[in-house]
Amino acid sequence: MEAFNATKWKVGDLHLYMADGGSGSPLLLVHGFPLDHTMWRGQMAELAAHAHILAPDLRGFGLSDAGGDVTTMEQFADDLAGLLDARGIVEPVVYCGLSMGGYIGWQFVRRHRQRLRGLILCDTRAGADAPVGAQSRLVNADRVLVEGAGFLADGMMDKLLASQTRHERPALADDVRRMMNDAPRQGVAAALRGMAARVDATAWLPEIDLPTLVLCGEHDVISPPAEMQAFAQQMPHARFVHIPAAGHLAPLEQPQAVNRAIREFLA
Ligand code: MLT
Repeated sequence: MEAFNATKWKVGDLHLYMADGGSGSPLLLVHGFPLDHTMWRGQMAELAAHAHILAPDLRGFGLSDAGGDVTTMEQFADDLAGLLDARGIVEPVVYCGLSMGGYIGWQFVRRHRQRLRGLILCDTRAGADAPVGAQSRLVNADRVLVEGAGFLADGMMDKLLASQTRHERPALADDVRRMMNDAPRQGVAAALRGMAARVDATAWLPEIDLPTLVLCGEHDVISPPAEMQAFAQQMPHARFVHIPAAGHLAPLEQPQAVNRAIREFLA
């Protein structure tokens, strides 16, 4: 279910799409890999009463143009700043990113700190990939260009959703798989290469002086609760919230608990 229509904006040489609606201070919702802005469907309508929701499709995902063979987290962060400019958003935003959206968030803090008034990190990591993980992303990037992203979905589904979600909500699992299967090859390959090259943000954590909410699904095996709680403890103004009965895609799996935590944070 789409909460708002996505509008096309010119950012540099690319056309990027962003769903936009609601009223209040801006809340930028940045999706994970290899998804698109519709992963925030459980947040958009409900949080629109509390914030001006901005939910982009990152370059190479959803309807947005792809560009280049490698999309670094720095490039994604600069695209988002460009989108805010194009949309005329000058007020500082609360940045909310899931997983890859969180990796981009570290760069957004480094490069565009003045545009931020808060940070929400959902099911994400501060560290870089281990060498073997980075190498496997590079192999997968080449394979995606030939085969499409379906094989990634085969390997990731069990890790993305808690087993309870997969068994009790097969339609949601099918929808996530469809989103992954349909993800554009060039954008997926470029993001894989960019994630493989991303830097470790751990040393920056004590310097991030923004009010921060750290959310993690109880059964997240990609960014486990203990790891997220440990990085939250290194951030001076972070609060850690555990989302019961959810895996890595907590905002999709348990929207009410996630929305409650976000509403309290925004208030
Ligand atoms: C995501 O959900 O964005 C991915 O799990 C990130 C990753 O592959 O590290």
